Amino acid sequence: MNCLSPSILSADFSRLGEQIKELDEAGAQYVHIDVMDGMFVPSISFGMPVIRAIRACTDRIFDVHLMIEEPGRYIDEFAEAGADLITVHAESCRHLDRTIEKIKEKGLLAGVAINPATPVSAISCVLEKVDMVLVMTVNPGFGGQKLIPYTVEKVRELRKIVDEKGLKTDIEVDGGVNLSNVEELMDAGANIIVAGSAIFSGDVTENTIRFLNIINE
Ligand code: DX5
Ligand code: ZN
Repeated sequence: MNCLSPSILSADFSRLGEQIKELDEAGAQYVHIDVMDGMFVPSISFGMPVIRAIRACTDRIFDVHLMIEEPGRYIDEFAEAGADLITVHAESCRHLDRTIEKIKEKGLLAGVAINPATPVSAISCVLEKVDMVLVMTVNPGFGGQKLIPYTVEKVRELRKIVDEKGLKTDIEVDGGVNLSNVEELMDAGANIIVAGSAIFSGDVTENTIRFLNIINE
């Protein structure tokens, strides 16, 4: 299924609850939640207390993208805070397999993310264990960047592998996605679409509906 996962990193944090309700009412299926630790990525965003607080605003899927070193240390806490899907970076886990197992033991959906310069082959051993692969289309750390063109080829490569193996693995793209390039990414094989600045700059409802019209086509 194709889904929209608006990234609240670009939301107005003084009205976060209201904006999440607006996304929900406009029909976005997921809420993309970017957790940054100032180590794996240069920036620091927010953590469990914020996730716990916004859990009351919607029943939509909380798609928690952990851009932190050794995320395995915090899986229990993110599960308790209200995550439905936890994605960890292949580059940030010394024991990637164990961390994925930990997410699944909690009864959550598990995702693995790869940075632009990490090849698709880096996750081949865990592909059959995860529910989703997140292909970063910018270097993680900030919203509002421009999509790196070579990452589209990686989406295509991954889609081919997933289909050839007969897997149901979702492919998510994150970074620099907008109304002009979303179709190209879906043609390449992405089915879960993250958008931050393209949703939150301007009218949130209108932007969400515009994306959904393309994604649900
Ligand atoms: C970047 C984050 C993204 C970010 C996307 O490190 O993982 O989820 O919020 O923002 P845009 O869509 O503005 O590139
Ligand atoms: Zn993200």
